[in-house]
Amino acid sequence: MTNIAPASGRLGVLTPGIGAVASTFIAGVLAAREGLSEPIGSVTQLGHIRLGSKEDDRNPLIREFVPLAGLDDLVFGGWDPISPNALEAARTAGVLKDADLGSISSALEGVVPMEAVFDQQWVSRLEGTRVKNIDSKWEQAEALISDIETFRTENECDRLVMIWCGSTEAYQEPSDTHATVAAFEAGLKANDENISPSQIYAYAALVSGVPFANGAPNLSVDLPCMQQLANEQGVPIAGKDFKTGQTFMKTLIAPGLKARMLGLRGWYSTNILGNRDGEVLDAPENFKTKESSKLGVLGSILQPEIYPDLYGEIDHVVRINYYPPRGDNKEGWDAIDIFGWLGYPMQIKINFLCRDSILAAPIVLDLALFMDLAARAGQSGIQEWLSFYFKAPDSEGNDPEHDIFIQQTKLKNTLREWRGEQPVTHSEAG
Ligand SMILES: NC(=O)c1ccc[n+]([C@@H]2O[C@H](COP(=O)([O-])OP(=O)(O)OC[C@H]3O[C@@H](n4cnc5c(N)ncnc54)[C@H](O)[C@@H]3O)[C@@H](O)[C@H]2O)c1
Repeated sequence: MTNIAPASGRLGVLTPGIGAVASTFIAGVLAAREGLSEPIGSVTQLGHIRLGSKEDDRNPLIREFVPLAGLDDLVFGGWDPISPNALEAARTAGVLKDADLGSISSALEGVVPMEAVFDQQWVSRLEGTRVKNIDSKWEQAEALISDIETFRTENECDRLVMIWCGSTEAYQEPSDTHATVAAFEAGLKANDENISPSQIYAYAALVSGVPFANGAPNLSVDLPCMQQLANEQGVPIAGKDFKTGQTFMKTLIAPGLKARMLGLRGWYSTNILGNRDGEVLDAPENFKTKESSKLGVLGSILQPEIYPDLYGEIDHVVRINYYPPRGDNKEGWDAIDIFGWLGYPMQIKINFLCRDSILAAPIVLDLALFMDLAARAGQSGIQEWLSFYFKAPDSEGNDPEHDIFIQQTKLKNTLREWRGEQPVTHSEAG
């Protein structure tokens, strides 16, 4: 049984990036608070958890089983180089209809992003205007730390969490600057070009004792220096890249094919997307970051090293096409070439007409509540039990788990363990 501090007082949710996902998240929480809609897609709000053996008939709501912050206790804030407030961000994104924004519009308008730490070198398609006029990266970090404390005080928050909902930054490999906290701090002082804005936010959060989760595929907390800092500060971290549309489908279907020992020869995923995220990802250096986060999934689930005959030769291709008419309403196509008994080929086609931010918003809510729970449960460093929410889960040295059903089991068993309940093994006895 783990000692978990109560969720008393207000929880501030800070999002660097108040664009389509963050504004849809805030709008949905405000609407749920007013009883205008159900928080559909949120495991923390709607999910139940089975306890004990099947005969025990104990199946409480997760939010009644573990002490989570309530929706009424959330306060929203963040930073953005473009959006003047969350209402304008929601209107620009065009995810929600005016009719759904009506009664919550003044609350949304009241969420005014702070000036961002922004550098166009990392997101070439965006022109930032609401940007801190500070050149030194060290001083940028200090300014963010000061923003965090001002937000905490002005909004009378007992606790804060930070979820990166900013644009995907250009691809990069970790460098020497990222090896240790000391090297990173020296890099900040020397304005090292390898340090991106998201890393400066992550550093500021961890120094301030604020849990940080990364919803985009760029490097931020999945760096040795950040893991060291998170462990030293006793702060939870998690990432990366919200698992929503096509990758969500991939992690549903691939485990099923493998469970039945059906072979896979190729998986071609392509989609059209017209929101600002799609525009940013239209730049090759930003798409490369996304591509590498999407490609890792199949190899990890299918284990070609153990099943070379079934999964040893897979052509896995991922494309994203920026197509403005579709806005946030992505259309994705997957052509999956499988084979079965006597090697006979078969095909599966998926045509997913999804809404990106509608799928991502409940993930932001769940991560905010679970990261806060983890902090109150005394957890620090990478929270592998939250892999369920990510395309490219961060893990401690070992291979990350991608199978969504194993991830779900891990999440629920972690909660059971913290509350002194037996894990559910789904064996004949359990
Ligand atoms: N929607 C999904 O299904 C989904 C899934 C996985 C990951 N993501 C990722 O989530 C992120 C947000 O997606 P979105 O659809 O809201 O995109 P968006 O373009 O609508 O919003 C991103 C916002 O981040 C801001 N921004 C850019 N650089 C910043 C900085 N340095 N500091 C603060 N803000 C900054 C932009 O101005 C913009 O308003 C993207 O990185 C996207 O790839 C989204």
